[in-house]
Amino acid sequence: MGSMSAPASTLEDAIQAALATVDDPEIRRPITELGMVKGFTVSDGLVKVDLLLTVAGCPLRDKLTTDITAAVTEIPGITGAEINFGVMSEEQRKALQTTLRGGAAAEPVIPFAQPGSRTRVYAVASGKGGVGKSSVTVNLAAALAKRGLSVGVVDADIYGHSVPRMLGVQSPPTRVEDMIMPPQSHGVKVISIGMFTAGNAAVVWRGPMLHRALQQFLADVYWGDLDVLLLDLPPGTGDVAISLAQLLPNAEILVVTTPQMAAAEVAERAGAIALQTHQRLVGVVENMSWLELPDGSRMEVFGAGGGETVAQSLTQTVGARVPLLGQIPLDTRVREAGDAGTPIVLADPSAPAAKALDEVADKLAVRRESLVGKPLGLMVNAKRG
Ligand SMILES: Nc1ncnc2c1ncn2[C@@H]1O[C@H](COP(=O)(O)OP(=O)(O)O)[C@@H](O)[C@H]1O
Ligand SMILES: [Mg+2]
Repeated sequence: MGSMSAPASTLEDAIQAALATVDDPEIRRPITELGMVKGFTVSDGLVKVDLLLTVAGCPLRDKLTTDITAAVTEIPGITGAEINFGVMSEEQRKALQTTLRGGAAAEPVIPFAQPGSRTRVYAVASGKGGVGKSSVTVNLAAALAKRGLSVGVVDADIYGHSVPRMLGVQSPPTRVEDMIMPPQSHGVKVISIGMFTAGNAAVVWRGPMLHRALQQFLADVYWGDLDVLLLDLPPGTGDVAISLAQLLPNAEILVVTTPQMAAAEVAERAGAIALQTHQRLVGVVENMSWLELPDGSRMEVFGAGGGETVAQSLTQTVGARVPLLGQIPLDTRVREAGDAGTPIVLADPSAPAAKALDEVADKLAVRRESLVGKPLGLMVNAKRG
């Protein structure tokens, strides 16, 4: 020991406490909780930490070094830190995996399907492609994250998988044993089926494969404690909707349509599936509703009334009110923002399309009546986990 006046145990406690404030940049939990701190010594104001990385060649060494140094040098008398990096053994990684899964569970479980899950799950569906389902999904995700909610998106659209691009996700998921860490962008955790299909080969997904992929996305991805999970479904529902109902019976379906859609047809199909799977239809979003002209008038490029007709028709089919949650105008900035990887609700929040999307997000961030009395992490402004 150096010239510290504090008793050794107190100083060591302080260092331990300081280390507990440092999160692993990827897993976003304290390094002490993750079993990454193998040990430390302190001498002449210098803390030497033996740190175990989850994988060799972890690119986050610099960040860890900076964060640990910042944390321990807050302690009076500590002037620096030296990190000796090691790598976890197979056994240590397994232990970490168990910690992350929240216990000794051997079977992969889908946290969102557990009784008492606080996560509200929205499956975004449409009758056909090109109606803006992915654009609506990523904007709602970004808008909800902006409100301080913890948000995840599963891109289950095997034909499109455009969600990562629209959210500007740069990095692939990483692995700890058989746990998958989702990359994050704009505060949204993202997993796409496209991240698991080699190259850009057009993969023909059959029902069972799709079911397994979806199960893996939900069980093996470390999502943490989500307030909202959004799923971008392939157009036309079908196989995925049935799988989803089995895997996530509490998922609520959000229907995206345009004013022009063969409204009755869309409604009938979505309604039939919801009836069959006993899933709740949370509402309808009409996209590409009109184009605002320079003189302020609205040009109804694709006609009018599709969203309202779908909502009314669904209400009749399922026998419960299915509201029209919003009408999103056509705006080239929606596409540009998506292409640039920053959804319009973040890139240009005062645009009418962004405001309309924000209003839909507000409606989705509300407590569900049937869940009153159960813990639900919505409307909490402080971000958790
Ligand atoms: N409200 C809108 N205004 C302008 N362009 C839009 C709007 N909504 C979607 N788009 C564009 O239309 C195209 C199809 O949208 P996308 O979200 O990929 O649809 P889907 O997921 O239903 O296939 C994209 O190029 C997107 O940028
Ligand atoms: Mg899409």
